[in-house]
Amino acid sequence: MASVIFLILTILSRTSRATSHGGRLFEASAVEKHEQWMSRFHRVYSHDAEKASRFEIFKKNLKFVESFNMNTNKTYKLDVNKFSDLTDEEFKARYMGLVVPEGTSSLDSYKTVSFRHENVSETGESMDWRQEGAVTPVKNQGQCGCCWAFSAVAAVEGITKITKITKGELVSLSEQQLLDCDKENNGCGGGYMWNVFGYIIKTQGITTEDSYPYHASKQTCYSTRSVAATIRAYEMVPQNDEEALLKAVSQQPVSVGLDGSGPAFKQYSGGIFDGEYCGTEQSHAVTIVGYGTSEEGIKYWLLKNSWGEQWGENGYMRIKRDVDAQWRS
Ligand SMILES: *[C@@H]1O[C@H](CO)[C@@H](O)[C@H](O)[C@H]1NC(C)=O
Ligand SMILES: *[C@@H]1O[C@H](CO)[C@@H](O)[C@H](O)[C@H]1NC(C)=O
Repeated sequence: MASVIFLILTILSRTSRATSHGGRLFEASAVEKHEQWMSRFHRVYSHDAEKASRFEIFKKNLKFVESFNMNTNKTYKLDVNKFSDLTDEEFKARYMGLVVPEGTSSLDSYKTVSFRHENVSETGESMDWRQEGAVTPVKNQGQCGCCWAFSAVAAVEGITKITKITKGELVSLSEQQLLDCDKENNGCGGGYMWNVFGYIIKTQGITTEDSYPYHASKQTCYSTRSVAATIRAYEMVPQNDEEALLKAVSQQPVSVGLDGSGPAFKQYSGGIFDGEYCGTEQSHAVTIVGYGTSEEGIKYWLLKNSWGEQWGENGYMRIKRDVDAQWRS
C-alpha cells in the first residue's frame, strides 16, 4: 500500500517540476524572441516600463502563435509579425477602419435580389485577377484606419484595367485623395467603401497614386489633380450568398468587409484561414481578387489586404469558401 502511494507522489512531483521548468524555459525563450523580434521589426521602446508592458503582450501573442502551430490539424499557420506587441483592441483601432454606417442593413438597396452578374453561368474552377494583370502590388495602410480606401481602390483599379478605360493599362490609384477629400468617410478614423464609389462618381474620378501619394494621415484636399479613372455605377452583391459572390468575382475584383479582429487573423502567415477565432462583425475591408481550390481540396477566396507584403502570403490571404456563417450588422 505504502509503495503505491509513494509511486503516485513521485509522479506528481515530477509532473509539477516539469511544468514549472517548462514555464521558465518559455519565459527565457520569450525574452530572447522579443529581443530578436524588436531588431527584426526595428521596434524601439522609449523606456523600460513600456518595454516591460509590451513584452507581456508580445508573450501572450507568441504563446498563442506557438500553441496554435503545434496543432498539425490546422489548414493555416501563424507567425509573429509587426503586430505582435499590440493587443487585439489596439490592433483593431490602428490597422482596420471599416465602419458600416448605421441603418445600412435595413436599406432595401443593399438587399438586391437582382444584380449585374446574376446571369453569369461560367465561373470556372479558379480565378486569379493578378494573372490577368488587374491587381496592383500589395500596399500598406500603415497606422491609419482607412482599410475602406484601399479596399475600394483595389476594386476600382481592377475594373478600370478590365474594361480597358486606361487602354488596358493597370494604373495604381490614390487612397490619399479619398482620405483627404471624401467627406462622407472619416479619414483614418474609419469609413465605408459604398461612400467611396459614390464619391468617385460625384467628383467624376480618382487620380493616380503617383500624383497623389499616400501619407497615412488625413491632410488638405487637393482636388485639382488630373483624373485617371472613374466609374459609372456600383452595387451590393446579395448578402450571405457565396454563389452570387462567385459570379461577381469571376467578372471583377470585389470590395468586401469581414471580421479581421482576433489573434489569428492578425498573425496569419499562410494557408487557408477558416475564421475559427473571428466573429461575423465587419471590422476590416479587403478586396477579393480570386478563388480556387487548394491541393487538399479546400475551396478558398483569394483576398488582397493592405498591411504590406510581410503579412500573410506576400500580403494576401486565402480564406475558406462555402461556409455557413451569416453576416450581421
Ligand atoms: C482533424 O481534422 C479533421 C478534418 O477536419 C477532423 O475530422 C478531425 O476530427 C480533426 N482531428 C483532430 C484531432 O482535431
Ligand atoms: C437575367 O436573366 C433574366 C431572365 O432572362 C432577366 O430577366 C434579367 O434581366 C437578367 N439580369 C440581368 C442583370 O441581365
